[in-house]
Amino acid sequence: MRYSVDGTWRTSASGSTCEALNPSKANAPANRFQACTTSEVDEVFAKAREAQRTWQRTPLHARAALLHRAATLMRENAGEMAEALVLEVAKGAKDARVEVERSADLIDYTAEEGVRLLGEGKLLMSDSFPGNDRTKLCMASKVPVGIILCIPPFNYPVNLCVSKIAPALIAGNTVVVKPPTQGCTATLHMIQCFLKAGFPAGTVQAVTGRGGEIGDYLTTHPEVNAISFTGGETGIRVAQKAGMVALQTELGGKDACIVLPDADLDLAAKSIVKGGFSYSGQRCTAVKLVAVFEEVADELLSKVNAQIAKMTVGQPEDDATITAVVSKSSADFIQSLVVDAESKGARLCQEWRREDNLIWPLLIDNVTHDMKICWEEPFGPVLPVVRVKSDAEALELVNKSRFGLQGCVFTKDIDRAIQMADAMETGTVQINGPPARGPDHFPFQGVKDSGIGSQGITNSINVMTKVKSTVINLSKPSYTVA
Ligand code: NAP
Ligand code: G3P
Repeated sequence: MRYSVDGTWRTSASGSTCEALNPSKANAPANRFQACTTSEVDEVFAKAREAQRTWQRTPLHARAALLHRAATLMRENAGEMAEALVLEVAKGAKDARVEVERSADLIDYTAEEGVRLLGEGKLLMSDSFPGNDRTKLCMASKVPVGIILCIPPFNYPVNLCVSKIAPALIAGNTVVVKPPTQGCTATLHMIQCFLKAGFPAGTVQAVTGRGGEIGDYLTTHPEVNAISFTGGETGIRVAQKAGMVALQTELGGKDACIVLPDADLDLAAKSIVKGGFSYSGQRCTAVKLVAVFEEVADELLSKVNAQIAKMTVGQPEDDATITAVVSKSSADFIQSLVVDAESKGARLCQEWRREDNLIWPLLIDNVTHDMKICWEEPFGPVLPVVRVKSDAEALELVNKSRFGLQGCVFTKDIDRAIQMADAMETGTVQINGPPARGPDHFPFQGVKDSGIGSQGITNSINVMTKVKSTVINLSKPSYTVA
């Protein structure tokens, strides 16, 4: 597949390509993408700058209309994007379609939100500050930051790309996208919908290539005004490398699910299974640790294990619950965490089973703090359980983690739930429900190694704009301007 520059699709002069593999077919070759050169990157940024000068002067309603058009085209072309997600990131066929439709809804919502949010400014009067007469009128409005580099992860290469480019475009910025290698095809099909919708040349462009090869050049490029990155540890490197630019980084998580003795165990078990195993645990918001009070642990685990026993394991095109994880290195990492835990005394509730990237769902009981799986993000269908005896013990698990994305607590005691939520060092706490980023207008943020800044449609628009003050200095005070 070609990369996108200035409204056209091109083959790279490098003559070299990078390859996406099919995780469900023993990593057989799936698709090839251009390995863009640094001078091609320079050209893309030059086009983005040129286009931004005009785009920022395009009326808000016209920007919104183009976004709605792109959303419509995405719904019309959902099939090809869904197929690409099944092929390159082993997402179940139904879930793949849901991702595309969710993304189209996000774009429509962003267009509406942008028209409201950006369609009004703020007027401040100088005389509200002591010692000042009303001789200064300050019009404060939100203006675009310029060019936004958007880097989505493999696990939601459509949804976590539009969650960046839609707010960026409605705000008058232009975007340069670096799609993930695994999942690249679906992202490029989505970009094609924006171009077909009529976005002016240079407003939406995509540079392809391995992040490990072209990533640093992109994130340190002088034309970049803001970076919106979603991914793992790489994001810490991006933040360290990025210069004086606005940053939105949504990174990994170790979302804990705390189950108190009075919890509705059926609800907790259902949420743990949905949160821990949907998309084979490859969600930043997946439940990645269960902290359950000793006195209800056996009952909870028997409910969870009963549901695991019913899970289908197999091919994404058949909508199996558990499908292959994205890469051999990911499967190896997951296996290493299980081996480490078992060697230190953890109890596997199911037999360990793996065929290539396909790992059977696994609950791991009696996990202790010395086991890596207690702290690492497996990003796979294996879920550690720590038995606790107090709120403090459960909170220690959450707050000692270097991650801080989400957490959840199950209890019928709302006061205790709120106290726990206050004490949890995470960007979001869910009470009696599993962690989730959506719905996409909710604020979504991580703390500690889970990220910088906040996402969610309104927050993303705010990250991608800056305040501009225009102060009218009057020759004499005027109180007619109310
Ligand atoms: P990743 O390995 O960090 O890659 C993320 C993106 O960064 C990919 O597009 C990758 O391109 C690119 N990249 C790689 N090296 C780069 C560099 N030096 N400079 C700039 N970009 C570079 O993450 P992933 O494996 O795709 O996604 C899984 C991780 O993302 C998990 O940790 C998960 O928790 C996290 N995640 C977080 C959220 C959230 O909202 N908090 C949501 C989803 C996922 P290549 O594919 O070409 O390497
Ligand atoms: O990592 C992907 C995650 O962002 C998915 O969204 O709403 O299913 O938690 P959600």
